[in-house]
Amino acid sequence: MVKNELKKEWIAILDFGSQYTQLIARRIREFNVYSEIFPYYVDIAELKKKSPNGIILSGGPDSVLNSNSPTVSKSIFDINIPILGICYGSQLITKLMDGLVYKSENAEFGNAKVKICNNKNILFHDFPDEIEVWMSHNDIIKKMPAGFKLAAVSSDDAIAAIFDEKRDVYGLQFHPEVTHTKMGKDILYNFTHRICKCAGSWKPKVFIDKTIDYIKKEIGDGKVVAGVSGGVDSMVAAVLTHKAIQEKLHCIFIDTGLMRKNEAEEVKRIFQEFFEIKLYAYDYSKEFLAALQGINDPEKKRKIIGNLFIKIFEDKAKRIGNVTHLLQGTLYPDVIESVSINGPSSKIKSHHNVGGLPEKMELKLLEPLKNLFKDEVRKIGKSLNIPDTILWRQPFPGPGLAIRVIGEIDFNKLQILREADEIIKKEILKEGLNRDLWQYFGILLPVKSVGVMGDLRTYDYSLVLRIVTSYDGMTADWARLPHILLAKISNSIINNVKGINRILYDISSKPPSTIEWE
Ligand code: XMP
Repeated sequence: MVKNELKKEWIAILDFGSQYTQLIARRIREFNVYSEIFPYYVDIAELKKKSPNGIILSGGPDSVLNSNSPTVSKSIFDINIPILGICYGSQLITKLMDGLVYKSENAEFGNAKVKICNNKNILFHDFPDEIEVWMSHNDIIKKMPAGFKLAAVSSDDAIAAIFDEKRDVYGLQFHPEVTHTKMGKDILYNFTHRICKCAGSWKPKVFIDKTIDYIKKEIGDGKVVAGVSGGVDSMVAAVLTHKAIQEKLHCIFIDTGLMRKNEAEEVKRIFQEFFEIKLYAYDYSKEFLAALQGINDPEKKRKIIGNLFIKIFEDKAKRIGNVTHLLQGTLYPDVIESVSINGPSSKIKSHHNVGGLPEKMELKLLEPLKNLFKDEVRKIGKSLNIPDTILWRQPFPGPGLAIRVIGEIDFNKLQILREADEIIKKEILKEGLNRDLWQYFGILLPVKSVGVMGDLRTYDYSLVLRIVTSYDGMTADWARLPHILLAKISNSIINNVKGINRILYDISSKPPSTIEWE
């Protein structure tokens, strides 16, 4: 497994349901130390076998004072691995080691100042006497467990940090992983490097070399098939796999006719000319358009596209013969067994990728990126010389422009949308905003309105600008773009794209809206 190969030095994070757990993992990885998240109920003996250099107990929404609150076996303190508890984690350490936690009269949420105590410990190595932190808790440590010392106190003298240097156990009432805690990064660095003795050797080159070795071993004499679309993840996965097994990788590109302007040509050019990876490209745009004729319902559109894609892909893959693996660009956030606070999220839209294929075709999955966050995939891509134009592409839905032409689609509407979308992209790039925005695209409404162009009356479609900021696509906010930029985009589209005479700006956030309209 890539996973074990990566674990020369690493930190395990036990998730007690905090919204910041993934942030802890990312912060640690920023120091080039690999980190991995486990649900809090992980078997401690099993975890010990994997020899992490340190363990972090995350925060969580529950209270350790509740009878059924998440907990961990006390044996965690006997395995001689340094432990850092954050918020709920620190309260749990206190409870398990026979200190006292109580429900505070004054819940603390937001910025606060804490004083570092005289008996400074390694976590606060070379720190000033006072630091700004981010608090978010109801419960508080009233009495430290035996053997612990005070490391920091809040302005009202409440316990803010504790430590037991002999057993290497540390507890913080505040959150070092959020940027509001001004020296939070230093605290985590001190934990990983000074206390857990990590050197920071987890770098892109190491990942690439180890992953290539793993892919070679895993595939052996087999063959891998990959469906590529030009998206960042599938591109990085394909380039990495190609480096490992060259012609044993078969990349299939199916042009659905639902892609953006020049996209199909660009994908072919990058694969074949830039990386010299043979691409099996097939144009099925007519078939997709025909299958979607007369269809208005968004879910029906998605199903039709998904099923047709799978049928074509399966057929093409079968022709290769003796394929053993399907390559997928799965990322870490998709595989974390997260501790859900709100229960499983309900299915809002049926997202189509090549899901369903592995079982149907009896293929093993090859997922070389499944331990990485998106920003890490970009770093790996950069090391592999993948151009920035690919690495910073916006996410693009599998069903493509079919779900951005509202209602029934036809070729003419798709062309209108493609032209408008290209203008939006160019203007955003010109302003240098593409890396700050999650997505910026157009949605063609089936609504016509009257306008005037020169002396002529027009009766044309309306286009919605959907431009959002987001961290991961799960929530999003509409971008507060300068009016002057919005005016530029609007004028440019209306003057240059025949068929559109009105531009609207979508000012709804997710939730309650979604990013795409269908
Ligand atoms: P929504 O519209 O659900 O979209 O707020 C969240 C993010 O997911 C993208 N999206 C898709 N991605 N296949 C994909 O791979 C899909 O079918 C799909 N539908 C939406 C969307 O563009 C946004 O970034």
